[in-house]
Amino acid sequence: MTTSINGYRAPARILHWVVALMVIALLPIGSIMTQQGLARGTQDLLFILHKNGGVIVLVLMVLRLGWRLAVPPAPMPPSVPEWQEKASAWMHKALYFMLFFMTLTGYIRVRAGGFPIEMLDAMGLPPLVPRNETLAGLAKSAHFYGRFVLLALILVHVAAALQHALIKKDEVFGRIWPMIPRG
Ligand code: HEM
Ligand code: HEM
Repeated sequence: MTTSINGYRAPARILHWVVALMVIALLPIGSIMTQQGLARGTQDLLFILHKNGGVIVLVLMVLRLGWRLAVPPAPMPPSVPEWQEKASAWMHKALYFMLFFMTLTGYIRVRAGGFPIEMLDAMGLPPLVPRNETLAGLAKSAHFYGRFVLLALILVHVAAALQHALIKKDEVFGRIWPMIPRG
């Protein structure tokens, strides 16, 4: 029965955890692949994983935003004060924004720089962004600094979620976990 589900429906839960795991991997892969002194083969592999993984996150985020707008989650439990509900709504909007910001600046940085995105190239998709070194440089800086904002948001978000799961032990964590809701 759909009405007995607490919080998010299965598609939103699955998308949350798949995107979360991918982003938790993309952040360190991005930082490692740009270090000096890496073996060429390792660096190439990390770039391929990062660029193509990042594009998959972008596609998943488009699906996720569409689902979110079409099927809003059930309301928060009444134990959550109004200010916390508002704060979490803003936090979630900021996370959505930064996930689009990071994927789009990454895409623009690569395409404006004239580099491949192997998966999209194999599908025959056009670059969509013209070659332009100034644009590539701007996108590179935005991507570089944006990761600190995204990381800070994730740390606050995970701390708040764990506080609900481990200290308050209320129903908030159960709104998103398990992946497939019971009931
Ligand atoms: C261990 C890690 C994580 C935990 C425990 C966790 C927990 C949660 C919980 C409990 C909610 C539901 C909040 C509510 O009741 O409305 C939620 C929503 C959300 N989380 Fe996470 N999360 C984690 C990692 C992440 C990461 C890494 C990201 C970003 C990549 C993220 C992005 C989001 C977003 C955008 C929402 C809002 C979903 C929506 O309203 O559509 N989470 N998370
Ligand atoms: C949520 C998704 C993403 C996250 C969290 C992320 C994170 C990062 C991080 C932390 C770095 C290292 C920053 C630096 O040292 O410059 C980086 C670099 C990079 N990312 Fe991403 N990224 C994402 C998506 C993408 C996408 C979709 C692409 C391309 C299609 C991409 C392409 C690149 C490139 C080319 C670099 C190297 C920049 C340079 O030094 O020229 N990223 N990314």
